[in-house]
Amino acid sequence: MDYTLLSSPLQGFTDFRFRNAQNKIFGGIDTYYAPYIRLNGKLVIKSSYQRDLLPENNNTLEVIPQIITNDADEFLFVSKYVQELGYKELNWNLGCPYPMVTKCGMGSGLISNTEKINQILHKVHNESDIIVSMKMRLGYDTTEEILDVFPILEKYPIKNVAIHARIGKQLYKGGVHLDAFQACVDNTKLKLYYNGDITSVAKFKEMQARFPTIDHWMIGRGLIADPFLPSMIKNDSFEYPKNKMELFSEFHDTLYEGYSESLSGSTHILLKMHHLWEYFSVIFSNPHKVHKKIKKAKSIRNYEQAVAEIVKAG
Ligand SMILES: Cc1cc2nc3c(=O)[nH]c(=O)nc-3n(C[C@H](O)[C@H](O)[C@H](O)COP(=O)(O)O)c2cc1C
Repeated sequence: MDYTLLSSPLQGFTDFRFRNAQNKIFGGIDTYYAPYIRLNGKLVIKSSYQRDLLPENNNTLEVIPQIITNDADEFLFVSKYVQELGYKELNWNLGCPYPMVTKCGMGSGLISNTEKINQILHKVHNESDIIVSMKMRLGYDTTEEILDVFPILEKYPIKNVAIHARIGKQLYKGGVHLDAFQACVDNTKLKLYYNGDITSVAKFKEMQARFPTIDHWMIGRGLIADPFLPSMIKNDSFEYPKNKMELFSEFHDTLYEGYSESLSGSTHILLKMHHLWEYFSVIFSNPHKVHKKIKKAKSIRNYEQAVAEIVKAG
């Protein structure tokens, strides 16, 4: 069956630099979601969000912007902003599990508030022609909360609902709830996308066999850890390319150069790269050792030396 692979947004990781480098060097992703825009009480878009969505920074990519909010006016403001940039769709985040978000009744903390969801969708669809899609968890407290949201969503022309098959209070702990995702498939006619723990070609095949009607698959952390993954899925291959380290090195250097230009000071640059290596280390034969070596590098010189040694050893 034909299918679409989507890059699930990760705040702090899947910015335009990452998206462009991944697409150019490895490919395999059809559409990238940009990390969410969150307004801080004012109708102002922060410059970092602006830079991330500028058409010239995304000109070879298919990108869908995302918002996190519980306010219709914010939704309308951001819709207008992204439409002016040429985007046709805005994805609404009802998945974020972090207390700073959920305590304000946003992200997965909004799933149980069907009245508010309805009120926002009603106003947005009355006052804007933006295409709305959703990204949700199954609920905050229970995996059934989402089932009460479907009848609301079905009243509007929602393009699709991407479901991360966990609940908010799990954060990222524990496994995905596949039976609960099946209950979603069985209980709505909305177009559903699957998201959660696709980290290998084998895992992708397992999910594809389990949910044969799903043809859109979102990959989040698995793409940071293994940027080769989507092209290997598409090529139906369990083998890395022969020049694996050469490609990884090009990818690393592209990101490193980009962040060295945009971030000020070695502390920020090294912190950014350390975060990436928490994921990157997974494709090396001794992830723990690789991560430790990177963490030990406290200066630019030591960092560059550590990366050279890691890449050489493969
Ligand atoms: C550090 C981090 C940042 C994230 N930022 C976002 C975000 O901005 N928007 C969003 O919808 N999901 C965000 N997510 C959730 C992921 O997109 C994804 O739904 C989740 O990690 C499950 O998929 P995976 O198992 O393939 O990673 C984030 C996850 C992590 C770990």
